[in-house]
Amino acid sequence: MKKLILDVDTGVDDAQGIMVALAADDVQILGITCCHGNTSLENVLRNTLRVLKVCNRLEIPVYRGNSEPLLAKRTHAGDFHGKDGLGDVPDEDAPGLELLQEEGAVQAMIRIANENPGEVTVVATAPLTNLAVAAKVDPSFPAKLKALHIMGGNTESRGNTTVCGEFNFVADSEAAYVVLDRYTCPTYIATWEFSCTNSLPWSFCDTWLAQDTPKARFMERVSSHTRKMVQTERYQKELIGEPGFNTCDVYAIAAAIDDRVVTEHEEVAVTVELAGTYTRGMMVLDHLDLLKKKHKVFILKKIDKDRFQRLLMNALK
Ligand code: BDR
Repeated sequence: MKKLILDVDTGVDDAQGIMVALAADDVQILGITCCHGNTSLENVLRNTLRVLKVCNRLEIPVYRGNSEPLLAKRTHAGDFHGKDGLGDVPDEDAPGLELLQEEGAVQAMIRIANENPGEVTVVATAPLTNLAVAAKVDPSFPAKLKALHIMGGNTESRGNTTVCGEFNFVADSEAAYVVLDRYTCPTYIATWEFSCTNSLPWSFCDTWLAQDTPKARFMERVSSHTRKMVQTERYQKELIGEPGFNTCDVYAIAAAIDDRVVTEHEEVAVTVELAGTYTRGMMVLDHLDLLKKKHKVFILKKIDKDRFQRLLMNALK
């Protein structure tokens, strides 16, 4: 049984990823920790509970994390995900925030890792503020994890938020720096370029969202704004390869729940640019080991597309 903590900033692709994890066999979600990011922390908390409600999984504990980055100004991605993070679709029945745990996200992560040493995998699909703070509060925390999966960063200086910066690493660049420096557990990164190369074909999306289930109807509604945005020239220009729907966070979550979904990695030392005028937040790859970092990460390179699509399909059943 895989034991996971999901660290999220629930916008549309986080919601898809959470649903994929909830539907997976042999996966236990020990908690969902929330962070600022795609939208405000309050919206992220509400969105996370909405996803759990539609999946009848409100028993999974949800924790309040950091509402702002370590140093940077807050950045949200409302244009893309909708201001509320889930397409601005009214939801009269959204669960109330009284369902949240009282314990904070950072404390919960540290406690859960202490209770399950060497067994917990964290999947971070948000800015990395919660994880950076956890490593500062308890420097022994990173080594207690089984693995860390991150959606963020880039390999070819392609940006989606700034010229060279991917959203999660731009939204809290200092946190990304701390995490890549301190987390010495096996670390896997689903980068922006990886997502852009593996977008979901529109024909798949149509079938996926047309399933006659409450989960598919929910995803169809909350992703409608984002799907329209993705089809505009501005967003299709970002893609490498075939046109389609770029479900960034799902790659990181799929890689964590199914060891066979990613078929090729590149092992390399990485860090984050914190100073550049155009490059702040860009992930930097040290192919020549000039930085003499002891720890290397695994960058996702190839995916078994059929297997990936089966996970997605199953998530909305
Ligand atoms: C990342 O930014 C967010 O908008 C998405 O949810 C994803 O985590 C992609 O750059």
